[in-house]
Amino acid sequence: MYDVEEIRKDFPILERRIGEKKLVYLDNAATSQKPRRVIETLTAYYEEHNANIHRAVHRLAEEATKAYEEAREKVAVFLGAPETTGLIFTRGTTESINLVAHAWGRKYLREGDEVVLTETEHHSNLVPWQLAARDTGARLRFIPILEDGTLDMEEAERLIGPRTKMVACIHASNVLGTINLVERLAELAHEAGALMLVDGAQSAPHLPVDVKKLGCDFFACSGHKMLGPTGVGVLWGRPELLEEMDPFLGGGEMIREVHLDHSTWNDLPYKFEAGTMNIAQAVGLGAAVDYLSELGMEDVREHERRLGEYAYRRLSEIGGIVLYGPKEDRTGLVSFSLPDMHPHDLSQLLDEEGVAIRSGHHCCQPLIRRLGVVATARASFYLYNTEEEVNALVEALVRVREFFGAFAR
Ligand SMILES: Cc1ncc(COP(=O)(O)O)c(C=O)c1O
Repeated sequence: MYDVEEIRKDFPILERRIGEKKLVYLDNAATSQKPRRVIETLTAYYEEHNANIHRAVHRLAEEATKAYEEAREKVAVFLGAPETTGLIFTRGTTESINLVAHAWGRKYLREGDEVVLTETEHHSNLVPWQLAARDTGARLRFIPILEDGTLDMEEAERLIGPRTKMVACIHASNVLGTINLVERLAELAHEAGALMLVDGAQSAPHLPVDVKKLGCDFFACSGHKMLGPTGVGVLWGRPELLEEMDPFLGGGEMIREVHLDHSTWNDLPYKFEAGTMNIAQAVGLGAAVDYLSELGMEDVREHERRLGEYAYRRLSEIGGIVLYGPKEDRTGLVSFSLPDMHPHDLSQLLDEEGVAIRSGHHCCQPLIRRLGVVATARASFYLYNTEEEVNALVEALVRVREFFGAFAR
């Protein structure tokens, strides 16, 4: 049984007060809070096992290496990766996508090739491809969205063709809450002889993910959005592709032999893990994944689906509010705006009520422009949020609105 009140007890920060008010944390798409188990894992790692990994033979180094490699196995299982050789620790989604855009893009893209993205990409799945296109002469094409915020799949079928070398797309939108049909996009990519990269920053924390079922070639996500520490994320790639790619960063650990004039590369996944990694953070991510797996991602998804629907319904009762994204099949986040109020003012006033939401372009400037606004406000929910917190958001919004209305008069 999914017991949200029990779950909340695992998250010490949820006890915090903002002034006189109880914290209502609704900025989970930016980063999630951490359960005690993750915090204690980090402390235990530093208090009992800390050492550098893979190099020394002393006891602590062996323990640290074991903990790090166990975390890799846990994350691989969590994402449905068929092996651990393709599971590379990075700093997060941004670094994972940069890795592919550099190590694959610079090697394989040529003038006339096309990389197909969507209008809804986070800057971290857009800017790395702009840089790769600039350096290689490849061209970027964009799948547009329909009015409801879903991808125009007919246009996707037209855009993905013989020139396409890569299709790179968010699994779930951090602005619209849309869940994209990435399985279908992967099929289209493969029919065209292209590869498929999925930005899973907003899916891995919230939905059951199986990279085999998605049919993608690369999958990226961030630990800090899925209960883990900052500074660690994941790139999963098909090992045969990673094998052929050039390294991303050069340095210690990623080499087999180094001569003054050339070097050879270590086996996967170490070829892509140059220098001292974020060891404690990776171990912490392992603990986060244990926590999520024990809750069960189907149940997490169901809880957030219901909460998201409830929030969408309650928010839509506020007169004049504009809600963005599809009505159904969405993740647990809602972007909105109120007439005559800048989202920044809105989130500042909500903060005084103890309600933490986000406002701005959400690192998706082209999408925000496409929506015809300068910014939106966004409430994003996670596995520990409750209907009472949605009510607190709605009530605070109504109060803020009344205050602002009076102010405007
Ligand atoms: C869809 C999406 N992609 C990528 C990122 C970047 O993640 P990170 O900053 O952890 O690298 C985010 C973060 O907000 C995101 O929402």
